[in-house]
Formats: sequence, C-alpha cells, structure tokens
Amino acid sequence: MKILSIETSCDETAIALIEAKGDITHPEFTILAHELYSQASKHAEYGGVYPTLAKREHAANLVPLLQNILQKTHSTEKGRTLTEEETRYVSHLLEREPNLADALLDSVEEITLSDIDAIAVTEGPGLEPALWVGINFAKALSFLWNIPIVPVNHMEGHIFSVLQKDISLEYPVLSLLISGGHTQLVLSPEPFSYIIIGETRDDAVGEAYDKVARMLNLSYPGGPIIAQKAQEARDNNIEAIPLPRPMIDSDDFDFSFSGLKTAVLYALEKYQTVDENTVRAFARGFEDAATDVLLSKVQKALEKYKPHSLIVAGGVSANTYLQKQLKELLSNIHSSCVLRFPADGLSTDNAIMIGMVGYMRHKEEYDQTLIRAQGNLSLRK
Ligand code: KG4
Ligand code: ZN
Repeated sequence: MKILSIETSCDETAIALIEAKGDITHPEFTILAHELYSQASKHAEYGGVYPTLAKREHAANLVPLLQNILQKTHSTEKGRTLTEEETRYVSHLLEREPNLADALLDSVEEITLSDIDAIAVTEGPGLEPALWVGINFAKALSFLWNIPIVPVNHMEGHIFSVLQKDISLEYPVLSLLISGGHTQLVLSPEPFSYIIIGETRDDAVGEAYDKVARMLNLSYPGGPIIAQKAQEARDNNIEAIPLPRPMIDSDDFDFSFSGLKTAVLYALEKYQTVDENTVRAFARGFEDAATDVLLSKVQKALEKYKPHSLIVAGGVSANTYLQKQLKELLSNIHSSCVLRFPADGLSTDNAIMIGMVGYMRHKEEYDQTLIRAQGNLSLRK
C-alpha cells in the first residue's frame, strides 16, 4: 500500500510517500519520494523554536512540498473541479490557516490523485499549534481523496526510524530516544509495548546541546556544530573543560542535563575572552560529559533488562562520538545485543518514519473525527 505521511511537530515541515508491504513483523518499505523543509535558520535568531513562526512556516510550505512529492511520483491526475460544497468544507477544515486553505484549493486540480491508500500524520508530542497545521491539512486531504488518516506518535516514529529493508527487530528492545524535546530510555518487551524506564527530569539532551551552543555563540541547532568543535579539540589535543556528569551514579535510569548546562555557564564566566580553542575545549567537555551519562545509563539498562536490540534514535543519535562509544560498549560487553541507528538523514525529524509507523498501525480502528494535536502525548500500547 502507498502511504502519504506528514510531519509538523516542531521546526521541520516534512512529507513523504512510501510504499509498504509485508507482515508488520517483517515490513518492507520503499521510499517513493520525500521532502523536508527545515525552518532551523529562521528560528536561529531566537536560539530555539518559536511556535508561532513554526506554525506559519508549516502552513506556507505544505502545499509546495506536496506538489513536489506528487509530481516526482506521477501521482497527479488532472481534471477534477470541486463542488461548492466541497470547497466550503475544505475551507472549514482549514479555517485557522486561511493561506493554506487558499493554496490547497488553488492547486487542487493538480493534486487530485490516483493511488494513495492512507495518510499518516503526527498527532504528538510536539508544539500543538504546529501539530494542528499538519493534522488539519491531513484532514482536508483525507476528505478530498476519501482515504483514512492514521494518527502517529512522533516518538514511535523515532523508534521505527531504524527499520529499513531486511531489518526485523529482535525483542525485547531497549530504545534510547534522544532529541531536542526528549531523553528517554524505553523498554519494549514485545512490539508496540512501551515501558518508560527512565527520562530526563529537566532539559532534554538535544536542548542542552542547543543551549550550550548559544552560550558559546555557535549557531542553532547546536548539536552538529558542538560535535564538530569537540572533534577539532580531540584532533588537536585540546583538553576538555572538566564538567560534572549529573545523576551518573543515581540508582535509576533518569537523566538531568540542566545542571550540566549551568556548569558550562559558570565555567565560562571565568574567561574574559573566549577564543576559538576555548570554544573547542568547552564543546569537548560538554560532549564528553553528556555522552558519559547517556552511556552509563544505557549500560546499566543493558545489564538489568538484557534486551536483544538497542535502538538509538532522535536528533542526537546522529552524533558520531556517541555512536562510536555505543558501538564499543556493545561489542566489548554486550555483543549479543544488536545496535540499531536510523539510516542517514533519519535521525532528525522527517516524514519517512511517520509513514513507517502509519503502516505498522494502519489496521487499527481510528475515529477520524477525534484526531487532534496532543502536545504531551506519551508512547502508547
Ligand atoms: O529529533 P529532532 O530532529 O527533533 C526533535 O524531535 O526534537 O532532534 C533535534 C535535536 C537538536 O537539539 C539538535 O541540536 C540535535 O538534535 N542534534 C544533535 C546532532 N544533530 C542534531 N546533537 C548532537 N550531535 C549531533 N550530530
Ligand atoms: Zn523528533
């Protein structure tokens, strides 16, 4: 079946069209087309995501992205004109986004489609105003095309972002979900079952990367640039600034990154000027500390739960240093556990992972009228 998927939970506007087949224990996915518009540079001056701007940008970009997808996959079929009643209903569904309604209605002849079977859309967690844009757009398309919507949990999307051709997960699965909004250790004894065994008590690890980058006058999002500066420090033997590893010895699987961020702030105050090598030393100190904490909690969870697969997903899973450390940990100590990362480009937010979950859950019954944005949605069975 073909699934069109839509992701608007944060600052990436993304749409994908995937073809999926097979049993959900051995699904097979083919990516027919995917489009992603990152708003990161627009949010950069705020040092984080600004919800009103995110919502406006999603509304401005969804139709152009959809047109690209349909053109690339030849899913268009000219010729249908909407009745007045249909036009009114689409406008009603998108009444909070009049510009999006206009753009959709203007292009509707080109997007009358032939063969898409379902729409998967992120329902949460995320920024509610941003989520609503994607959901209302999905509802309008679902009406125009007369196909169902499958609501998707964004975090389940990150978990299944590791599924590619020929990958079937061995359960129990332990997932380390590390992004700008989340830091969670999740145990799945079986498919679709989620027990959150630990999470951050304050900032998410990606959020800490972003905030520390801002303190060091580096660009947003902070993860990639801090990783680069930290690597430059290692390559040039620049010592790391010593920083604390909050909660590393605590008797649970929880995290705390706010104290680490504050420690960077205090340590920085001792410097009159912050030159390039000082930035590298701080980046290395921060990345070492954050990685040590993540690794230590993962190691403890591996020992306790003995999972057969470890999934590491979410934006921070793109971090090369963390990946290297995790690979060493598994090959040295837990070689019976298979480590799975997302494919290139699927660590950070994207619509492909949303489509994959859409397929895994398309047989469930959803009351289409109840689909709504849920900012704090947690993983469900
Ligand atoms: O999953 P994601 O795209 O969005 C959320 O759902 O939050 O994650 C974005 C986060 C940002 O905080 C960004 O700084 C971080 O992922 N990130 C990284 C790297 N690439 C992105 N953190 C560390 N190292 C990276 N290479
Ligand atoms: Zn995400």
